[in-house]
Amino acid sequence: MAQEKKKNGFASAIGFILAAAGSAVGLGNLWAFPYKVSANGGAAFVLVYIASILLIGLIAMIAEILLGKRSQANTVTAFKKIHPKIGWIGVAMIAIPFLITCYYSVLGGWTLRYAVNSFATGDNANALSFSSFTSNAFKPVLFTFLFLALTAIIIKSGVKSGIEKASKVLMPTLFLILVAITIFCLCLGEGVTKGLNYYLNPNFAELGFDGVLAAMSQAFYSLSLGMGIMVCYGSYTGNQMNLGKSAVMISVFDTIIALLCGLAIFSALGALDPDSLTKAQGPSLLFVILPKIFQEMGGIGTIVSFLFFAMVAIAALTSVISLVEVSAQFAIQKFKLNRIKATLTVCLVCFLLSIPVTWSVGGAFDGAISVFGFDLLTFLDEMTNTVLMPLGAMGSCIAMGWLLDKKITANPMKTLETLREEGLSLGKLEKVYVVMLKYVTPLIIFFMDIMGIITKIRVNPSYWWIIGASLFLIGLAVAVYFLFLKNTETGTNADEQIDNAKEQE
Ligand code: PHE
Repeated sequence: MAQEKKKNGFASAIGFILAAAGSAVGLGNLWAFPYKVSANGGAAFVLVYIASILLIGLIAMIAEILLGKRSQANTVTAFKKIHPKIGWIGVAMIAIPFLITCYYSVLGGWTLRYAVNSFATGDNANALSFSSFTSNAFKPVLFTFLFLALTAIIIKSGVKSGIEKASKVLMPTLFLILVAITIFCLCLGEGVTKGLNYYLNPNFAELGFDGVLAAMSQAFYSLSLGMGIMVCYGSYTGNQMNLGKSAVMISVFDTIIALLCGLAIFSALGALDPDSLTKAQGPSLLFVILPKIFQEMGGIGTIVSFLFFAMVAIAALTSVISLVEVSAQFAIQKFKLNRIKATLTVCLVCFLLSIPVTWSVGGAFDGAISVFGFDLLTFLDEMTNTVLMPLGAMGSCIAMGWLLDKKITANPMKTLETLREEGLSLGKLEKVYVVMLKYVTPLIIFFMDIMGIITKIRVNPSYWWIIGASLFLIGLAVAVYFLFLKNTETGTNADEQIDNAKEQE
C-alpha cells in the first residue's frame, strides 16, 4: 500500500508556497498596505517595508518554517520539542490566530457581501449601504457564517486535498484578477499620474519614526508571522522543499501583490475622485470610497466591483484557512478528533465569538457592545497585531536561535547545519543569518514593539487595557501549558495519518 499517500501534508513545494502565500496575502496587502504607504511618505515607506521584510520578516519566517518542518507536529509540540519548558509559546501562538479568526472572518464576511452585492442598485448599492449593512444585526452575522462555512469546507478535506488544492486554484485566480484590474485602472486617463504621485512620491520627512514602526509591523502582519501559521504549514512539508527559496518566493509574492493593489487603487482614485485621495484611510477606503469609484466607472464598474471584491474575499479566505488550520491541527493531534469534527468545532466556536464582534464593529444595538472604549474588532486587532504577534515572532527567533537542543536536531544550537540540510545554502551569508536570528532580529522586534506600544499609550491611555489583556492571555497560555500540557502527549502530524487511514478503510 502506498503509505506515503496517507500522510497528511503538502504534495508539492509549490502547493506549500501557494498556501503560505495565501495566508500572507490578505486584507493587510489589499487594504492596509496601500493607505499606509500613501499616509507615510510613499516610496520612503516602501523602502523601509522592504528592508523590514529582509531584516526581520525573512529571518523569522525561515525560523518558523524550519521549526515546523523539523518537528512535523502542531505548534505546541514543536516548541516543546525545542525545550519542554517553552511549549507555552506554542499555546500562545495557537491562541493568537484563534482570536484573529474571530474578527478577520467578520471582515471576510463583509467582502463576500460586497462581491455578491456588486450588482445591486439604488439604496442597496455598495456605495451607499455601508452603515446600513454593517449596523444591521443579522446580515453581517450571516455573511460571517457563510465565510466560515467556506473555510470549513476547504479545511475539512485535509491539507493536500483541501488547503493545497484550493490554494492552487485561488491564488493564481487572485493574481490574474489583480493584474487585470491594475492594468484597467492604470489606463483610466489623466488623473492616474496624480494618484500615483500621491501614492508613491518618496517623502522621507513624512515617513518619520511612526512610519518606520508602521512599516515594520505591517511586514510582520503581512507575512503572517509570530502566530504559529508558518510553523503549522511548515510541519506539512517534507524533504522536497527548498526552505530558503520558498520563504523568498512567499515574501516576494506578498510584496508584489501589495504594491500592485496600491497602484490599482490610487490610479483609480486619482482618475475618478482626486478629492478622496487624502481620505483614503481605514475601513472607508475599501467599503465606502472604492464602491463609489466603481459606481463612477459606469456599467463596467459593476464587473470591476465584483472582480475586486471577489479578489479581496479570496485573499481573506486563504488567510482565514491558515488561521483556523493552526487550531484544527492542534485539536486533531491533542484530542485525537477526526479532521471534520475538529474543523467544525473550531469554526463553530469562532463563529459564535465573532457575533459580538460583528455587532460591536458595525455599531448594532447603538454601539452598546464595546470594551474599554474600543470596539471589539479594534481591541482584538490591536492585541494581536501590536502586542502579541511581534512577541510571538521574537519568541520564534529566540527559541530557534538560542534554545534549540538535541531533541530537534542532532546538532545542538547549530542552526546553520540544520539550514544547510534544508537546502538553504546561504554561502557567506550563513554567519550573517545566525547573527541576525540570535541578536539583531529579536532586538529590532523588541525595540519596535516597545516603541509602538509607548506611542499608542501616549495617544490613548486606554491602550493599557489592551496590553493588560495581552499579558493576561500569555499568562493563561503559560498556566494551561504547565498545568495540562507539559507532561502529557500533545501529538504530532503522525496522529492524523493513522486517523486518515482508519477513515479510508
Ligand atoms: N497576512 C494577512 C494579511 O496580510 C493577515 C493575517 C494575519 C492572516 C495573520 C493570517 C494570520 O492580511
